[in-house]
Amino acid sequence: MCGIVAYIGPKQAFPVLIKGLYRLEYRGYDSAGIALLNDSLNVYKTKGKVADLEAHVINKDIKGNIGIGHTRWATHGEPNNENAHPHLSPSQNIAIIHNGIIENYASLKKELVNRGYTFRSETDTEVLIHLIEDIQINEKVDLVEALQIALSQVIGAYALVLIAKGDNDKLILAKKGSPLVIGIGNGEYYAASDATPIIEYTREVVYLEDEEIAIIPRYGELKIKTVKNQDKTPYSHKLEMQLNEIEKGGFEHFMLKEIYEQPRSIKDSMRGRLNAIQGVVNLGGIAQYENKLVNARRIIIVACGTSWHAGLVGEYLIEELARISVEVEYASEFRYRNPIIYEDDVVIAISQSGETADTLAAIELAKSKGATIIGICNVVGSSIARATHAGSYTHAGPEIGVASTKAFTAQVTLLSLLALQLAYTKGQIPYKRFRELTYELEAIPKKVEETLEANTIIKEIAGIFKNASNFLYLGRGYNFPVALEGALKLKEISYIHAEGYPAAEMKHGPIALIDDHMPVVVIAPNKGIYDKVLSNIQEVKARKGIIIAVVTKGDIEVRRMADYVIEIPETEEMFVPILATIPLQLLSYHIALLRGCNVDQPRNLAKSVTVE
Ligand code: G6P
Repeated sequence: MCGIVAYIGPKQAFPVLIKGLYRLEYRGYDSAGIALLNDSLNVYKTKGKVADLEAHVINKDIKGNIGIGHTRWATHGEPNNENAHPHLSPSQNIAIIHNGIIENYASLKKELVNRGYTFRSETDTEVLIHLIEDIQINEKVDLVEALQIALSQVIGAYALVLIAKGDNDKLILAKKGSPLVIGIGNGEYYAASDATPIIEYTREVVYLEDEEIAIIPRYGELKIKTVKNQDKTPYSHKLEMQLNEIEKGGFEHFMLKEIYEQPRSIKDSMRGRLNAIQGVVNLGGIAQYENKLVNARRIIIVACGTSWHAGLVGEYLIEELARISVEVEYASEFRYRNPIIYEDDVVIAISQSGETADTLAAIELAKSKGATIIGICNVVGSSIARATHAGSYTHAGPEIGVASTKAFTAQVTLLSLLALQLAYTKGQIPYKRFRELTYELEAIPKKVEETLEANTIIKEIAGIFKNASNFLYLGRGYNFPVALEGALKLKEISYIHAEGYPAAEMKHGPIALIDDHMPVVVIAPNKGIYDKVLSNIQEVKARKGIIIAVVTKGDIEVRRMADYVIEIPETEEMFVPILATIPLQLLSYHIALLRGCNVDQPRNLAKSVTVE
């Protein structure tokens, strides 16, 4: 939540900041602002998107070689001009941008108000900058020391950047809980919430660690200290990401591009890990912990949102193939419910961004109880990837559309590989069956390509149902999580109420909603308990519900009953979720588009939820 970008060097900062903010807009887009240092400190901010900010600064003084920029997802205070970042200190000499939440802001604010300070905004960030300047003046210390003292009083999460008038030769950064990456250029430095604003300028980056403060001078070397004033050596990493991966490449929206990338992204998730001809499945990243996994009393999967849905598919896969007991938990619930965690438990944390605050906290909790933590993340070098003992990257490539698509299918692919590897190591499935499954998994990218051919019919169906006010999604077994994911996608981007349900559970409530206006999407492949799903379809039809069925190519039985049919290629039951999710992604996309919604930046959402 919230995107941060900063620049210091010989170039004009403004173009770097604006371009960076566009790249980070997926993290929040309710208001945006920048601060630039030349002889004076100029702050411009506005409610709305980065484009509104760009319009707002026309004819303004935007000169300066040092600057900071912010795109916001509101936590404290509604999105308006006052609450937008940057915020200024009481003397107006220091500007701050911040991502995260200062949890004890109310008590800090009370003290500052008692000492006569007034506030323009309702944000926790303004409290922090007041506190910093108050310390600087009263304790007669420099800005870095004032920041260190202030941060030692703060409870919560922060990624922040400061620039100050009169101290106008540096950027000062601090991080705890929320991400910050520093790009090292030639005589210049960049900083941002993720690497996307940086890669076109440099590939050398330093990831700031928790409770570290970076001091970046206009001339000279980057220095890192901790909040407790210990010196740290900056370790640089090389970015592997390519610029074209974070651009739209001819598609109207990132979401559509990412849906269409799935044949490639799924292949990339399997690359070097699956060789069906040789009968090898090998997730190198977890090799050291494979024994732990195989002998685990149970596996606990923690995740949020779409990643949680992938976790549910993982539960079915691992239990069926490897016969290891699996529990799937919402990270936000797990972290606060005092769960029982044994030292021989293995916790798998799934996260596209690798930054989700609740998932990170769930990891820390499980770690403190001695469990082994494995990560399945998409963003290389992310906080979750670094907090886990071992893990495997999904390698789906950057996902920019706020509604997750290719990250989900990559997560399910990785969980399929993991389940197969564990099953093989445990000797849980006959070798012949293992080989069949590896061949089938290897064929999935090709089948995803075929699945995408249904786009035309899906577009037509979207046109028919674009004005519906409710949708029901039903699936059983492996396809129950698919139903949840389909409903989530529709809610997220088209704002139509939708519920995902296990098809048989429908009788215990949602059936009351069904009438001749209710579209019911049923995932009904010719696998598993197909006959039971047919009965569930009958139950909907008997109440005049409208059936949109996702079926296996050539299906006859469902076609007889359904009003609309979307075909997917035949595959093993356990790999159906990868294929069946794709038509549901496309259905949501087309409905949202027809309703005039902002597909890539749906209201109130953010891609990377770094606050709890
Ligand atoms: C947000 C995003 C979702 C995502 C969820 C978990 O809600 O909008 O698309 O599934 O966070 O994020 P993660 O990065 O941990 O997978």
